[in-house]
Amino acid sequence: MTSNLAGKDIISTADIDRKALDEVMDEAERLRPELEHKGMLDILRRRVLCTVFFEPSTRTRLSFQFAMVKMGGQVIDFGLSETSSIAKGETFEDTMRMVDGYSPNVIVLRSKTVGAAGAAAGICDSPVINAGDGSNEHPTQAMLDLFTIKRARGSIDGVRIGLMGDLAHSRTTSSLSYALDKYDGVQITFIAPSKLQVRQEVVNSLRNAQFDFAENFEGVANRLDFLYVTRLQKERFPDQAEYERLKGSYQLTRAALLGHKKTPFIMHPLPRIDELSTDVDDLPEAKYFEQAKNGVFVRAALIELILNV
Ligand code: NCD
Repeated sequence: MTSNLAGKDIISTADIDRKALDEVMDEAERLRPELEHKGMLDILRRRVLCTVFFEPSTRTRLSFQFAMVKMGGQVIDFGLSETSSIAKGETFEDTMRMVDGYSPNVIVLRSKTVGAAGAAAGICDSPVINAGDGSNEHPTQAMLDLFTIKRARGSIDGVRIGLMGDLAHSRTTSSLSYALDKYDGVQITFIAPSKLQVRQEVVNSLRNAQFDFAENFEGVANRLDFLYVTRLQKERFPDQAEYERLKGSYQLTRAALLGHKKTPFIMHPLPRIDELSTDVDDLPEAKYFEQAKNGVFVRAALIELILNV
């Protein structure tokens, strides 16, 4: 059967329907025990994935690479831009044309620039997966976030989630908002100091989800099933003095969490700096390391569906 995602670029969760999101999660759920028990599969034999990362990454790059290798495929990494012809002044367009010219089966791109993945998709014949374009979107993070929510709670419909932190600059929370909006009865509370509140374009795009705003977690804690925390995106502040002023403006600690009647599941795309205290880690509700592990299953499923193997 041909997958809904066969041959597709993955640029924005706003453009992916519920059926396709569910297909990725169902396939990730099917692959999870296979990968856990057998370690390596050979489903993507003779396929090559190319990772092109122009911004720092640990989890996203590694989990794409692990996913591809564990599925029996091969990986070529572009490496640091300092060691490529970008350092000689080669343009993004020429670089992407070249990468595509080597005919990888799929390209995974991360860039500082909003819209870079969409632009690359216009240049490349190979499918392009957006692994983060500036503060705009990070659709595969949203897929693994949905998968984590589904595993913890059984379903995504009706979930009540607080998105907390630097929502103004966060690409994970925008992609997650667009993805959650595809489900029924979702309630999103955007929790941030006013200077860091969610971008208007994100809120304007919501069609199904109910949403509201809060300055801090205290007043809304008891009505959340999940609290999704994000770090202050230091590298996206045009003015570093503003970053210094806002540093430490929100922090989740074990004591703050346990001071409420109900403890929500805690999620975080990682890396964390000081907005999520390490004393939360051993609470049974802490899901962020599981979230990172789920990245391999979800990305393996996604690549398989795009390659339609
Ligand atoms: C996120 C990112 O790169 O946007 N990290 C990730 O992919 N897990 C979040 C962040 O950097 O804060």
